[in-house]
Amino acid sequence: MIGHMAAAVPARHILEARGNCMTFVVTENCIKCKYMDCVEVCPVDCFHEGPNFLTIDPEECIDCTLCEPECPVEAIFSEEELPKGQEHFKQLNAELARQWPVITEKKAAPADAKEWEGKPDKLKLLER
Ligand code: SF4
Ligand code: F3S
Repeated sequence: MIGHMAAAVPARHILEARGNCMTFVVTENCIKCKYMDCVEVCPVDCFHEGPNFLTIDPEECIDCTLCEPECPVEAIFSEEELPKGQEHFKQLNAELARQWPVITEKKAAPADAKEWEGKPDKLKLLER
């Protein structure tokens, strides 16, 4: 009977019950733009800073949605709504968040940030 009930519960609900809620993900358009408006609104300080990109720690993100509209280049997406071809950024955010320090305050964006808005194929320019 118990086995029966477990099979009827969607896997996502089981994960949420264990504290693994959905995460938001920073994607390619952040690279070399790095405007940092996003970090100021995060209630749980889950942004981590690298040289020219920010990531969200999926272990900390509480899926509050506040950061998504703050990004001027629309680089932040729910993991369920990642643009086609950017799905791998979920794994990349998790990996780099473990290596980079937390950032909670906005700093000056790169001087040439504007030039890089919306440019394709920026992943190769990611500095680690
Ligand atoms: Fe932080 Fe909320 Fe954005 Fe997650 S969704 S990174 S908790 S602001
Ligand atoms: Fe990047 Fe947008 Fe934040 S450019 S640093 S995700 S505001």
